[in-house]
Amino acid sequence: MQQSKPRVFSGIQPTGNIHLGNYLGAVKNWVDSQDSYENIFCVVNSHAITIPQDPKILHQKTYDLCAMLLACGINPQKSTLFIQSTIQEHTSLAWLLTCITPMGDLSRMTQFKDKSQKNPKNIFAGLFNYPNLMSADILLYKSNFVPVGEDQKQHIELARDTAMRFNRDFGETFVVPEPLILKEGARIMGLDDPSKKMSKSSSDKPNHSIALIDAPEVIVKKFKKATTDSEGIIAFDKKRAGVYNLLNIYQCFTKESQEAIEAEFFGLGYGKLKERVAEVVVEGLRPIRESYEKLINQKDYLHKILEEGEKCAREIATATYKEAKEKMGLV
Ligand code: TYM
Repeated sequence: MQQSKPRVFSGIQPTGNIHLGNYLGAVKNWVDSQDSYENIFCVVNSHAITIPQDPKILHQKTYDLCAMLLACGINPQKSTLFIQSTIQEHTSLAWLLTCITPMGDLSRMTQFKDKSQKNPKNIFAGLFNYPNLMSADILLYKSNFVPVGEDQKQHIELARDTAMRFNRDFGETFVVPEPLILKEGARIMGLDDPSKKMSKSSSDKPNHSIALIDAPEVIVKKFKKATTDSEGIIAFDKKRAGVYNLLNIYQCFTKESQEAIEAEFFGLGYGKLKERVAEVVVEGLRPIRESYEKLINQKDYLHKILEEGEKCAREIATATYKEAKEKMGLV
């Protein structure tokens, strides 16, 4: 494949329901910048099994998420979309990278610490080694940029270190990737507890996150219950995490400046703020939900796009893996 624009790669796990944090922190940026890059997007199902999953549900959710990414605006004419497990070079390259990554680097990963604390009875080696699979995803495509939310920054730094180490020890092979993290949306917090990142693993808590498939009345109800504070002033003040989070979400959808938003809400109460935020979110997500409801029934179309995506991704993946493997002396 001829590369004329810088290449972006990013991925998302098919666990739980894709939520507003995933959308504003990652997927919306993928969609909005499709014309500027050569784009490769991946549903990273092999990452999902680092935590125990119900196989039937995982299988179904993988396709559902592909449909949702298309509904969000990933355009198959402009972007390659595929499922990670269909290209075995991801796990093969992960092994090569595992063999050059110090244990100490992996044990510093905050996501490993968080996830293993949440699930102390189910800590498997895959979870520990997860960042090497993520490095493989990125390096396999010689990606220049990786658009993600802030929580993935540390993993991309590890991928950079790994790329540099490989290039130093075995000769120039990988592109050293840069994270692309947009300021607004980089870290959307839970509506119930704005000190914690909105996450799929807390989706059992009813008012924690907004799923992209939530009905309008559910979205309104969740925002009404969002945690704020007792100060009653609507301003972008990071110390007041609940109000800041609501304003941040509002800004992501309206694209207005902080000053304009503060002026708009001057003198109004939190009730009005929650109502307006819910309104822009409902309107912003409406076309996505409607498109998803159609796409989810167009199985042939979905499979065709995924097959084409896989073919395109495979061409790059096999070439890079062969190059890396041979440089390490593997026959
Ligand atoms: P995942 O599936 O947890 O999340 C997908 C994307 O959503 C972003 N995100 C958020 N952004 C803002 N606020 C939040 N509350 C929030 N929660 C999640 C994540 O930063 C991510 O960009 N390890 C990755 C998937 C992955 C990947 C890759 C990403 C695997 N291989 C290669 C980039 C490149 C993950 O678990 O994302």
